Order: sequence, then C-alpha cells, then structure tokens
Amino acid sequence: MDTWAYTDTVPGIDLRATAGDLMRITLDNQLPADTTIHWHGIALPNAVDGVPGMTQEPVRSGEKFLYEFLVPDPGTYFFHPHVGVQLDRGLYAPLIVEDPAEPGGYDSEWIVVLDDWLDGTGRTPDEVYRQLTASPSADPSGMDHTTMGAAPFGDAGDVAYPHYLINGAIPASPVAFRGKKGERVRIRMINAASDTIFAVAIGGHTMTITHTDGFGVEPRQSAGIYIGMGERYDAIVTLGDGVFPLVAKPWGKEGQAMALIRTGSGTVPAPDVQLAEFDRPILQGTDLRPTEASRLSEQQPDASATLELGGQMNPYVWTINGSPFGQNSPIEVVEGQRFQLDVVNATMMTHPLHLHGHTFALPNGLRKDTVLVPPMGTTALQLQASNPGVWAVHCHNIYHAEAGMMIALNYRQN
Ligand code: C2O
Ligand code: CU
Repeated sequence: MDTWAYTDTVPGIDLRATAGDLMRITLDNQLPADTTIHWHGIALPNAVDGVPGMTQEPVRSGEKFLYEFLVPDPGTYFFHPHVGVQLDRGLYAPLIVEDPAEPGGYDSEWIVVLDDWLDGTGRTPDEVYRQLTASPSADPSGMDHTTMGAAPFGDAGDVAYPHYLINGAIPASPVAFRGKKGERVRIRMINAASDTIFAVAIGGHTMTITHTDGFGVEPRQSAGIYIGMGERYDAIVTLGDGVFPLVAKPWGKEGQAMALIRTGSGTVPAPDVQLAEFDRPILQGTDLRPTEASRLSEQQPDASATLELGGQMNPYVWTINGSPFGQNSPIEVVEGQRFQLDVVNATMMTHPLHLHGHTFALPNGLRKDTVLVPPMGTTALQLQASNPGVWAVHCHNIYHAEAGMMIALNYRQN
C-alpha cells in the first residue's frame, strides 16, 4: 500500500523522553506537499507548536524544519501534521514522556494507537474532504445519520471507514502483545483517528484507568473506556493466562479494531469477536476524578469567553462562535489570568475539543487537553494563562477542523 508515514511505519516509531528533557527533532519533508508537526498535548513554546499560518510557515516539500523544546510534563502524547486532513493519512506517532518520579506499580508497558483508515482503499482523505464539501444535496459521507441523538455521543461521525486499526493492523492480521500471566501492564492508549470515537475493552479483563491526557486520575476500574479523537488514557491491566482480544469498537459505526494479548496457549479470537465487556458500563473520561497532584488550584476566573460549536453536514461547514476559522474573532487572554471557556455544543454530534499549549480543568477538576463535548451539551473549562502566544482551539474531528471548527486563543499585552 502506498501511503504517507513518518519514516516508513504506521504509526511512526514512538519518541521517548523524560520530563525536563530538551527535544530536538528535524522534520525532513519528503512528502509531495507542505506539512508541519504538532506535538499534541505538550505545553511547549508557541513557535514550535506546528500550526501553519499561526505559529510557523508551512514546511515545503523538500525542506527541513527544526523543532526544539523542553518537555515539561510526563505523560502519553502523540504528534501529527497540522495541515489539511493529513492526519487521516498514516502521519501520526506516539510521544511518551517518562516521569522521573514514576511510582511504578507495573511491570511493563504497551502503546495502543487507534485509527480509522481509508487511504489506499479507493479514496484519499483529501478526496473525502472534497466530496464532503462539494456536494450541495447528496450526503456523500456514507454514514447513516439516523442514530442522531443516541446516548451518549449522538451522531456517529461524518465518514464511513472500511478499516479500523490498532498499531497499524486490521483485525484479520492483528498485532500481538506478549506478556506473562499475572504481569501488570500499563497500557497507553491514543486515539489518532480523524472521525471516530472508540470504546476499548479487553476480553476477560478489567482495566484500571490511571491517567488521561498525561495527568493522573484517581484509579478507576472499568470493563472499558470511551476514547475520543485526540484523547489519551493510560490503564493498568493484570494479565490472565491465554490469548485475549483487545478490541476498539467505533462508536455508531460498523466493524472494529483488534489486537491480541498472548500470555499462553489458546485459540485466536475471530476478527469480529463480540466482547461481553461491551455489555457492561463503559467509562466516560468525564466521570474520572483528578488526583490531588494533578488538580488545578481552585480560583475564581478573571475573565471568560463563550465558545459555541456549530455546523452541519449540508452544506459542510463547522463553526465556532457562528463562523468558520478565519472569520471568527480570536479569544483574547492576558498572561497570568485564570480564564474560563464556556463551551456550548449547539449540534447533534459530540466534538472532541482540543486546546494547544495548555491543559484545562473540567468543573470537577480533571485536567485534560482534549474533551468530548456531548450533543447540545455545555461545559466550563478553566485554564491558567501561563504560555504566551497564539494558540489553536479546535475540534479534533479533523474534517470538522478543516471545515472551520477552530478558533485562535491570543495572548494580548495588558
Ligand atoms: Cu492534535 Cu491541533 O491538534
Ligand atoms: Cu467536531
């Protein structure tokens, strides 16, 4: 298959650092198109945030760009281009920042990257985007929008994908993780998909969620967890004896992604294995509570702004505060402010809202950089304005972001 990748694997090879390290990464653009790299979730200096037209010029085909920054916080992150719908090609890879004070409590570690895949199967992501935006009457998404309103996430997405992947593999030839019975594994889960929320569970196991978007949570046991585009969850799992499926089910869509966990002998599950775990309650990230250490100190906001998420399939335009990006007015903050973003979702779809360069706190104190805002739902996000620059705030459905669901957060001098 011919696709775009970092080096030559999908996902790209993971980058690892320890919190406090200086990273120097040269992007050598051998793609036939402009690109950039965005270091998703990292509170880095604005100039290396990788947003063309906002923080840098696009890196032209055949050119190089040096990204150099300190990684301040430990956690599970990833990186991807911030140009068009390039994320929906194979351009993504994990970025793991180790905690020098990691208390451990686990024996080994796996990375699970989820994706929805169509490149090389008849149309490219760019062609899908053109079809979504070009047809004035027919809905080219291939999606059945009659699930609209179903709890908890409403309308399932804009694109029907032929494949769902874990670490680049389809369920018919799954990736296999190996371990020992009784071993405690930290699983770092990253949803790199462009248009798909997944529910993740492991046959015959429960998981204990310990972190989201890099920050610690009060450990919470569950049969499974929902994970939106751009979100990350870390879980600890104690392995049983045998061969087990790790399944990611796309919300409201057909098919699934699967990987194998092997600790002993056993039969390999079928690619379409139906896990009983999905009949049990699946945890939503917003139900997690922060650890004391990851809480943002309680404080009255100095200023606030409303972010109204709007749009529809036809015509295919997605907006923040009534207009697509470029036509909406930037949100202005002043360094040192505690700032509140009042997010209002005025659509029948869930949107994973992502903030660059900062993390925010949900009303219950949970720290995240990407949050699922349910259909017609509202949420109040607080951030500490401590990282000057011009930052993107956008939906991590990459087709929505490209169609305008983005706004700038600007620091102004006071
Ligand atoms: Cu992972 Cu602006 O995005
Ligand atoms: Cu969206």
